[in-house]
Amino acid sequence: MSVVVYLGDDEETRDWVDRLRRLLPGRDVRPLDDPGAPEDVAYAVVWAPPAGAIARFPRLRAVVSVGAGIDHVLRDPELPRHIPILRTTGPEMVQRLREYVALHVLAHHRQLAVTDANQARGVWQQIVTPPAQRRRVGVMGLGHIGAQCALTVAALGFDVAGWARSKKALAGIETFAGPEALRPFLARTEILVCLLPLTSETKGILNAGTLGSLPAGSALINAGRGGHVVEADLLAALDSGHLSGATLDVFQTEPLPDRHPFWAHPKIRVTPHIASYIDPGTGAGVVAENILRYEAEGRLPDMADAVRGY
Ligand code: GLV
Repeated sequence: MSVVVYLGDDEETRDWVDRLRRLLPGRDVRPLDDPGAPEDVAYAVVWAPPAGAIARFPRLRAVVSVGAGIDHVLRDPELPRHIPILRTTGPEMVQRLREYVALHVLAHHRQLAVTDANQARGVWQQIVTPPAQRRRVGVMGLGHIGAQCALTVAALGFDVAGWARSKKALAGIETFAGPEALRPFLARTEILVCLLPLTSETKGILNAGTLGSLPAGSALINAGRGGHVVEADLLAALDSGHLSGATLDVFQTEPLPDRHPFWAHPKIRVTPHIASYIDPGTGAGVVAENILRYEAEGRLPDMADAVRGY
């Protein structure tokens, strides 16, 4: 039985191969481009695999996404849809996202970008913002990661609500569910945090209509996927003054192309898909543990669903 690995970058792939070899003794762990006998391959541990690569393995038991999202696997048109997909999260990944969301919610709340711009011009302007209790934050996506981020921001004192496809209960957080609850959720949100998975239902969900439903002066933090944002609509909402700013970690094309208007936009902070990161040092352990547990139990508690799309 063998395990193939693909992370895009050759050096990263080699690093993961070495680590998984140590963690999965007795398994033949190899890079995807040197898979050995295709019928021996039982697991493909991947980030954004090339189209058609997975379909070459007739006895694959599962695809392991090196990430919480599975959209990068599902976009392969040749992916056999019946193969289970395991996602990779773990406490470190959740912690990184909690930090990212807290950092940027606070930055928008305290208007850090304005203070930075003032400093650059030598301007002394004391900006007084309301306390967090009077700032309404809305988190879209209340899976394990979204829920933990919402609770983190609530613990800082913010007035937090969450929106998800189905109803979720979260202590101290008002929750909204389904398409009909989206507008009321947005209407009460001043800092919107998107942590949704990218599916056919959520593609383009941050558009002129939804951004327009936020109160004037609101801010957006997107650590979901670039495909959630209709880029022209976001730029228009920022340029008209309806939105005060946006922090974007994910983009339709990554790396963000050189001359993309987001780079130099005065109201946009770009971060290079680092809101979270699966560190091979600990991530390979999570992946190996998930593979062994999946082998033993035939499923994992938080399995992705290819039909649902996350
Ligand atoms: C990162 O974007 C992930 O899917 O984990």
